[in-house]
Order: sequence, then C-alpha cells, then structure tokens
Amino acid sequence: MTQEELFKKLIAHSKEYGFIFPSSEIYDGLSAVYDYGQMGVELKNNIKKYWWDSMTRLHENIVGIDAAIFMHPKTWEASGHVSAFNDPLIDNRDSKKRYRADVLIEDWLAKQDEKIGKEVEKARKRFGESFDEQMFRQTNPRVQEHQAKRDQIHERMTKALNDNDLTELRQIILDCEIACPISGTRNWTEVRQFNLMFETKIGSVAEGANTIYLRPETAQGIFVNFLNVQKTGRMKIPFGIAQIGKAFRNEIVARQFIFRMREFEQMEMQFFVRPGEELNWFKQWKATRMSWHRALGFGDDKYRFHDHDKLAHYANAATDIEFEFPFGFKEVEGIHSRTDFDLSQHQKFSGRKMQYFDPETGESYVPYVIETSIGVDRMVLQVLSAAFTEEKLENGEERVVLRIPAPIAPVKVAVLPLVKKDGLPEIAREIIASLKFDHNVQYDEKDSIGKRYRRQDAIGTPLCVTVDHQTLEDRTVTVRHRDTMEQHRVAIAELPSIVENEVSLRTLFAKLV
Ligand code: GAP
Repeated sequence: MTQEELFKKLIAHSKEYGFIFPSSEIYDGLSAVYDYGQMGVELKNNIKKYWWDSMTRLHENIVGIDAAIFMHPKTWEASGHVSAFNDPLIDNRDSKKRYRADVLIEDWLAKQDEKIGKEVEKARKRFGESFDEQMFRQTNPRVQEHQAKRDQIHERMTKALNDNDLTELRQIILDCEIACPISGTRNWTEVRQFNLMFETKIGSVAEGANTIYLRPETAQGIFVNFLNVQKTGRMKIPFGIAQIGKAFRNEIVARQFIFRMREFEQMEMQFFVRPGEELNWFKQWKATRMSWHRALGFGDDKYRFHDHDKLAHYANAATDIEFEFPFGFKEVEGIHSRTDFDLSQHQKFSGRKMQYFDPETGESYVPYVIETSIGVDRMVLQVLSAAFTEEKLENGEERVVLRIPAPIAPVKVAVLPLVKKDGLPEIAREIIASLKFDHNVQYDEKDSIGKRYRRQDAIGTPLCVTVDHQTLEDRTVTVRHRDTMEQHRVAIAELPSIVENEVSLRTLFAKLV
C-alpha cells in the first residue's frame, strides 16, 4: 500500500469511527474546516491535557491563561500581522487555481530529494552490506547533479523570501518548469502578497462598527497580559505563560486533511528570559519539547528538527519539530527565539511600559522571549497517522487497530458482558461504576465478543474487560490488551489499579527531560 493510499484510508477511518467529520457536511462541507466527533474530541482533549499538565504542573515557573479571541485591532498592527502576515500567491490562468509560490517550490525541492533517495536505495540494493551511503552521496555523479540543482534553487528561494522579491519567486517557478497539478500548464500570473487574517466587525453599524481580526495566533494574548500575570502571580524571570486556544488563518493552500486548516487550535507557551540568555533557553526548550513528542513512543526516527533558513523579522533563532506524516516530514511545532520584539512593539503602540524590574541585577528591561508553539490538530494527525495499523492475524483474519498511546486514547476501557443475560450485564455495570469517575469507559453488549474487540481496536481502546460465567463464581474477569491481544484473568477488585497503571499520564511524564 502506498503512503497516499494509507492516508486516504486514515481519513475514511477517522470519519467512520467518529473522530473527524468535514464541517457542515450536509451542505457539502466547508474547505479546510473540520469538526471533531465523539472520539476525536476525547483524543484532542487528552492531547491538550498532556501538554497543559506537562507545561504548568511540571514547571513551577509556568502558569496558564485563557485570553479572548478578539483583541484590540492595534495588537495586530504592533505585532506586524497587519503589514506582514502574508503569503506569496500565484494563480494558474488555465485552471484558475491559486497556489502559494513558496509551497510550489518546496514541493519541487521535495521531488529532488525523492529522486536522490531513490538513487541511494537502488545503490544500497546493488552493493548490499558494503554500501557506504555517505561516500555514495559525495561521489555519484547523478546524485551530485540533483543535489547541486536542488541546493541552488533552495538558496534562491530563501533569498527571494527574505528579500520579499516576488518577481524572483515567479522566475524560480518558471526556471524549475513547475506546472499546475490541475491544468498541467505553466501559464502563471505574477506573484502577489495576500494577508491571512480574517476580518470582522465589532459593535453595531449604528454605533460605528470597527474592524477587528480573528486572532491568527494565540501568542499575542500572552504578550499583552505579560505584566498582569507577572505582577499578580509575583512571577520572577525566567518564567512562562501557557495558553491553549483557537486561531484562524485564511489559508489558500488548504490540503492534507487537518494538517492545514482555516480554524485550528494552538498550544503556545512564551518563556520570558533575561536579554542575552535567550539562546541558551532556546537550546533547552528544543530538548524539552522533543522529549515531549518522543515520549509518545512512535519512534525517535519519526522526528527531526528543521532549522529555519528564513528567520521571521522578530526572531534570532527558530526551528521546527517535524514529524514523518504519510505525506512526508512536516512541521508540528515551532520553537522561536522572538527577542524582545513583541513586548517592545506593544510598549511602543500602547504607550505602556512592558518592563520587568529584575531584583537580582537591580535593572529594568524588556524581557526576551522563547516561544514553543504547537498545533493541536497537527498533534491529532500525528497520533492518528502513527497509530493507524492494518494487521493480518494468525487465524487469517484482518484487523484495523489504532495503537494510540494508552494515556491519550479516547476510551480507556471497554467492559463487555459475554452474554446479555445470567446477571453478566449487571456485573459489567458495577465495574463501570467503579471506574467511570477516573476514566472514560464504554459498555458494549451487542454482537459477538470478537466483533466487539474489533470495534474497540478500531478506536484504540487499550483495555477490554470481559465478564463471563466464571465471574459469577469467583469475581474474576479477563483483561485483553489491544496491542498484543493477550488476555489474562484478574480479580475485579484489582481493576482500578491495573487500569490506572496502564493509562495514567504519569507514564508519559516519567519519560520527559
Ligand atoms: N505564534 C507562533 C506561530 O503561530 P506558526 O509556525 O505560524 O507560529 C505554530 O504556528 C503551529 O501552529 C504550527 O507548528 C502548526 O502546528 C500550527 N498551525 C499553524 N497554522 C496552522 C493551520 N493552518 N492549520 C493547522 N495548524 C496550524
């Protein structure tokens, strides 16, 4: 099965089992907007809890806030979003489709990487164990040729983006002979800048309504509250403020399911530090955040850092944590050293001091900021794509199983009476009552036990508890583990501790650096 087929299956599975639906589907949906169903919302909430608790509970010096989505319009002038939150867009005159110019070029670069990868794989097969990949990459003429071409285009693109040179971006597209995927032609318009913020009006028209924006990032709600939190919480630098909330961007290239949405959710943390210490903290946060991802157990080789060539105007260092989705390595989280840009800008635009008096040095200064910013929806997609597995069983049957890490699985335990009579449902209900205050538990008595196991596998339930006739005699039940399908008999009284050990977020927290 190709990665593309796998991804299509994953999308279909997400809908069939109540994880993710297209928004307003009965009206044919709304592009790049999705709704979370009964399973999706549980998964999403668990991911948020994993992040929130790891930030605010495991760090004494990080607290959370929940700022409003609407903010004073000056916020976005100060932050630079009104003037600079743009995408360079290009239209194909034949298909009338609009694309991000940089994405077209990035896709072309990815194709060059693929070509190089194929050459390497071919050679690996040919040379077997004696294959020296590094040597091959350095000496093979075809690889060298692809690599040189790729690097040259990459350099030109980075420079064009940094210089905001739209003519050069278009020229690169022409030079690379990039064709529109729909029409197949190279009949391109000029490249133009397009602001990504959604506008709306606040106040009635009679009062004289004002234009405001739906926030394109949650970070600004933290910056404008920096002194409120610092003073009321008596926070001492270094300290952080965390927030989870919706953000909105009028994305033109909306694709890859929930990877790029117009309405999405972010989990952001701004860490305020002394000027001059920011790059050390940047390094530390890179390590901390990578360990948060890796603790999920999907495999360390599934992640990599991608340091930015093009630094945003406010940053002096930036990296992405990329995850290997079925459509390749892509960003799930950004870590940015944002200098004192945002606080200084708010100081300038509001006329209010945004300074911190440091009792240790006796100085007042505008703090520097390290930001960690991760998309909740991209995390959901990360988990679903890593967890989705099709398996052939020993008895020839097939099963689809979501190997979601137990602490973030939507349903933790399914309690299944073997038959709907003889007092078994009553015992099952009793077990549910003993677990439901702590965990999301499901009761299921319909269909054969095998079918019920498959249903739970398909939504990623880590444990199934089956109540049978032996339970009536000795108050024991079988516990079946999702991944191994192993079963063992335990006393009902032991269930709360067995479940807790398996599904507690502690198992993830214990792995964090
Ligand atoms: N405050 C910094 C900031 O917003 P960003 O790199 O633009 O930085 C941070 O966004 C994260 O938000 C990304 O790594 C991604 O996970 C998520 N994100 C951004 N745009 C998104 C979109 N259109 N749909 C889904 N997630 C998105």
